[in-house]
Amino acid sequence: MSVSIKSAREIELMRAAGKILAKVHENLGKELKPGMSTWEIDKLGEEMIRSFGCIPSFKNYNGYPAAICVSVNNEVVHGIPTKKHLIHEGDIVSLDAGVIYKGYHSDAARTHGVGEISKEAALLIERTRQSFFEGIKYAKDGNHLHEISNAIGAYAESFGYGVVRELVGHGIGTHLHEDPQIPNFAQKSRGVRLKSGMTLAVEPMINAGRPDVEWLSDDWTVVTEDGSLSAHYENTILITDGEPEILTLTETESNLGIGEPKGEDRA
Ligand code: CO
Repeated sequence: MSVSIKSAREIELMRAAGKILAKVHENLGKELKPGMSTWEIDKLGEEMIRSFGCIPSFKNYNGYPAAICVSVNNEVVHGIPTKKHLIHEGDIVSLDAGVIYKGYHSDAARTHGVGEISKEAALLIERTRQSFFEGIKYAKDGNHLHEISNAIGAYAESFGYGVVRELVGHGIGTHLHEDPQIPNFAQKSRGVRLKSGMTLAVEPMINAGRPDVEWLSDDWTVVTEDGSLSAHYENTILITDGEPEILTLTETESNLGIGEPKGEDRA
């Protein structure tokens, strides 16, 4: 397995791709309203991506028919947008999107609540996001990849949640999926050594219930086997000698201080 190290020029392009995708998520998240179809969400997302001069990387990827994966409630990932599937108050909706800017990819996902959602759903979303941040505390030159995996899994499982096994994060760059694979649960090996200039898509997929998933007959949509809710949180990050750089953090998140070290973690 070989993990590509991006040059300074490539890192600039990855940053630009990430910034655009963060804007797409920022804007698309604000558009979600009860009564909308998942097809409308995809159309809006694709228009936004193209308006920034980017290509939606998911469209036609292995035959995937849309630009945005829209996964509702018990759907984990890769939900296919349709005109029939309407979103309702109380739903949780995972939006996963990827863009290509001047040949470089970024990939990010967010789970949103539609209107008022249950306490259980809000906690799942919040803890799924936090599991990402627990993981990337270890995302640093000289550390090993599976330190990230172990930390994500330990945090999510501490709440009794099920961490999806069948799908993993990945390296990213001139391709959407590059080496290495990045599991979200405890590993026996330590994994590759992280190096400055690696760009990774870290993406915990966490179920409120059991970890088991199954595929619907469309061959794409992944759902929880027990019907429990599932949340997804993904960013493209850059490994450095210090804190990782999160290339796809949204403006709202950075205004909220999400992604900044908490008081207790500060030296
Ligand atoms: Co991804």
